[in-house]
Amino acid sequence: MQRRKFLKYSSLAGGGLFANSFLAGWMLSNTSCKKDHHRGLMSKPVWIKETDFGQALQLPAEVGSQTSLTAQTTSMNLNQSTKEVLGYQANQMLGPTIRVQKGDQVNIVVHNQLAEVTNIHWHGLKIPAEMDGHPVQLIQPKQQFNYRFNVQQRVGLCWYHPHPHHLTAKQITKGLAGLFIVNDAEESSLQLPAGKYELPIVIQDKRFQADSISYNPSASEMMSGFLGDTICVNGVVGATHSIDSKFYRLRIVNASTARIYNIALSDGAQFYLIGNDGGLLQSTISLKEILLAPGERIDLLIDFSKYALNSEVFLVSNQFDGGDAQGKQAFKLLKFIVKNKVQESFTVPTTLSNLMLPSAASQKNRVFDISNAMEHHGYPMNTGMPMKHRINGKLFDLDRVDEVVNANSLETWVFDNSKGDELHPMHIHGVFFVPLKREGGRNKLIESEKGWKDTILVNPGEKVSVLVPFENLKGKFVFHCHNLEHEDDGMMLQYQLI
Ligand code: C2O
Ligand code: CU
Ligand code: CU
Repeated sequence: MQRRKFLKYSSLAGGGLFANSFLAGWMLSNTSCKKDHHRGLMSKPVWIKETDFGQALQLPAEVGSQTSLTAQTTSMNLNQSTKEVLGYQANQMLGPTIRVQKGDQVNIVVHNQLAEVTNIHWHGLKIPAEMDGHPVQLIQPKQQFNYRFNVQQRVGLCWYHPHPHHLTAKQITKGLAGLFIVNDAEESSLQLPAGKYELPIVIQDKRFQADSISYNPSASEMMSGFLGDTICVNGVVGATHSIDSKFYRLRIVNASTARIYNIALSDGAQFYLIGNDGGLLQSTISLKEILLAPGERIDLLIDFSKYALNSEVFLVSNQFDGGDAQGKQAFKLLKFIVKNKVQESFTVPTTLSNLMLPSAASQKNRVFDISNAMEHHGYPMNTGMPMKHRINGKLFDLDRVDEVVNANSLETWVFDNSKGDELHPMHIHGVFFVPLKREGGRNKLIESEKGWKDTILVNPGEKVSVLVPFENLKGKFVFHCHNLEHEDDGMMLQYQLI
C-alpha cells in the first residue's frame, strides 16, 4: 500500500505543473523538521502592512445576463505603480458585476486571451454540470466558450472565477474574479438600500513585485495557504469611500486564496447580518464581528446615519482564534468618510425571507476525513514525503468519480477535521446545503451559518455536518477545500449525480 502511494507521488512530481519545485522546496524545508514541528511548519503568520487609505474605492461596472468577458493580461495602476494583472476587461483587475433576476436566461461568451487554459466556475449558481466550470471543461488560449444557463434559484450573492486545476489560485490572485447577483421579488419587497447605497466588496490579500502581483507559494505556503501582506478591496490598495450618513448594504466576498477575515467596524459598532452564501437569512441578526473564510459571502446593513459629518470609520478585520497562524493581527480593510449629512428614514427589517429548509429526514450519511494528518496516511514528518492535501486519503483525479449520489436525495455530509491542524473552508458545487452542527473546536454554528450555504469553515479539531438536498442536475461536480492552495494541491474530489 505504502509503495503504491509512493509511486503515485513520484509520477505526480514529474508531471505536475509546480510539483517539481514543490517537492524540492518541501524537502529542503523538511530537512530540519522534527516530528513535533508539524504545526510549526504550517504556521507562519504573514502580517498585513498598513497602507494610507488614500485611493478611491472602485465599484465594478454592472452588466446584465447577456454579456461577454475576455480573460486577459492587462495593466493598471496598483499600489503606486503600473502593474501587470489579469482581468476580464482591459486596464483593470476583476470583472464586472453580473446582475440578473431569478428566472433569467443567461448567455455569456468567455474569450480566453491568456497564454494558458482558463474557464469560469459560477460559484453559488445551481446550473447544469456542463456549464459549471468543472476543471475538465477548459477554454484553450485564443478560444471561447458560451456559458448558457437559466437562473432558477433564490436571491443571493454568487461570484465567478476560473477553475483549471493547478491554476485556480494563481489566476484568481492575479485578478480573475467577479460578482454575480441574483435578485428576486421577495428581496425587492424589503426595499433594502440600493443603487449607490449597495456596495459590492471583493476582499483579497496580495503580495506585490514592482511591476506585478506575485504568486509563488513556497512548499510550506502550500500547506498553510499563501497569505498576502497587502489588502486589496475591489482591486484597490488603501481604498476609501465617501458616503452619505445613511444605511448602506455591503455585499462582501472573500476572494483571497487562504486568508480568513473577522469582519467588524473600527469603532466596534453593531451592524446587521442579513444574508450569507445562500442569500437572505430568515431574520436579521445584529452583530459586532463575523468570520468570513475564502469563498464565503456575507450581506450586511451598516447604519452610517449616526455618524457626524467628516467622521471616519473603517471596515476592519479583528483578531480571532482559528487554531493556526491566522487571526493573530487586527488590520484595516476599507475606509469610509461621511461627506454628506442627510436624512435617513430606513428601518432594518426583522423578518427577511422564507428559507424553505428541507423537512424530510436525511437518507444517507457520508463522512469525509479532511484532517490530512501525516501520521494517518503513513508518512510521518521525517520520511521525506510531500504533504499533499487529501480528502479521505485521496488526491483529486479527473478520471475518478469518488461519490455517486442519487438525484433528488437528501444526504448528510460530514467534514471531519478532528485530527487536523489546518483550516479548511469546504465547498460543494451544484448545491446549497444547510449546516446542521459543528462538533469539537468552536462547538457551535456561527450566525452566518444559519440557512443556506455553499462553503463552510472547518477549523482544526472540528467536525461539521451539513444537510444537502441534491436536486436534478445530473452529471459530475467537484467539492473541495476553498483554501486555493489546498485545492490546487489536490484537496478536491468529484461526485456524480445520477
Ligand atoms: Cu469558488 Cu470550486 O469554487
Ligand atoms: Cu463553487
Ligand atoms: Cu484546506
